[in-house]
Amino acid sequence: MPTQIKAGCIRFVSMIFTVVGARPNYMKAAPIHRAFERAGIPHALIHTGQHYDRSMSDSFFEQLGMPTPVVNLGVGSGSHAEQTGAVMVGLERYLSANRPRALLLVGDINSTLAGAIVAAKAGIFCGHVEAGLRSRDRSMPEEINRIVTDALSNLLLTPSADGDANLLAEGRRQADIVRVGNVMIDTLFEHLPAARELALPAQLGLAPGAYAVLTLHRPSNVDDTDTLSGLLRAVTEIANKLPVVFPVHPRTRKQIASAGLNGALEHPGICAIEPLGYLDFLSLTSSARLILTDSGGLQEESTVLGIPCLTLRENTERPVTITHGTNRVVGTDSGTIAKAAHEALTAPQEKRVPELWDGRTADRIVAAVMQRLT
Ligand code: UD1
Repeated sequence: MPTQIKAGCIRFVSMIFTVVGARPNYMKAAPIHRAFERAGIPHALIHTGQHYDRSMSDSFFEQLGMPTPVVNLGVGSGSHAEQTGAVMVGLERYLSANRPRALLLVGDINSTLAGAIVAAKAGIFCGHVEAGLRSRDRSMPEEINRIVTDALSNLLLTPSADGDANLLAEGRRQADIVRVGNVMIDTLFEHLPAARELALPAQLGLAPGAYAVLTLHRPSNVDDTDTLSGLLRAVTEIANKLPVVFPVHPRTRKQIASAGLNGALEHPGICAIEPLGYLDFLSLTSSARLILTDSGGLQEESTVLGIPCLTLRENTERPVTITHGTNRVVGTDSGTIAKAAHEALTAPQEKRVPELWDGRTADRIVAAVMQRLT
């Protein structure tokens, strides 16, 4: 865990802070920090501690060259209310002692939601990076987080045109919305050469383009035994033809064990491994033949990499990955997934990268924020 600094020990005034809490936040915050540095504008990271395992946090800071956060609130795991509440309490205390010029929030996790509520009530200017995405599925905790974060943020930085349209339909003013592109893709472009050099597939005894990568962590997929066993059945079927590498999220590992499904991980075609750091994972995905996932970010990364992606969910908040990219939403039925995998492996796919997913989004974010602040 990054060094803990007791809230209030060191005072930072007139900084811009970006809040990070969990794995998918780091690759969004890293280029933002560097863009502020390039512009000579004081900026620092606040870590809520929502994710705390080395493989889910520290390794990303090291590989992405991120500075140690000015504070780690150390909230850890808990129910949604416990986790969100703990971030709110820690953040409110920290921000009242170190009042920033602005607070930036990324993504849609519980730490993002907590940051928006605290900033709005403290009257701190708040910008949301990745604003406007909507799955229209309120059973998904992230959808609640997105709606509330956007409603409370002063500046809405969207990755794609659908984000702008969703916000306008919810009554937001055009003046509050700036389409900046996808900041995670800045990180992907920056690190792709180093990731390729790692040659992770070879380390696992796999040839480039001759394996699939699987990630699963959504509560709706892994917390329900029937859904989880159906998904693993589909993966087993795919693994009879194409090796499947499966870096297993801690939540998923616990649920597979408690559902008595560990046997699936012993299938000879399934290579179940610990969660990977950013570079190792990019090394793996960038040479994959197929990606199977319930992650949001991976739908976007596979679009840019031009690798077919099957999203194991009923919906997506990232429709541009379907209209422009390589993504197909296939649900959780095992027969449908196996059929879609066969089609993805046999049909050629056209690569089209969405507008502004060009590796320069962080600079546009800094420009938009500074334009509002000055
Ligand atoms: C969270 C985010 C999700 C994001 C995901 C990426 C919310 C609502 N969910 O889900 O949007 O896609 O992160 O991983 O904010 N655990 C560990 N070690 C850790 C962190 C978690 O073992 O470092 C285990 C704990 O048992 C914990 C469980 O994973 O209870 C879930 O962690 P949590 O942060 O609540 O949600 P994620 O499923 O990781």
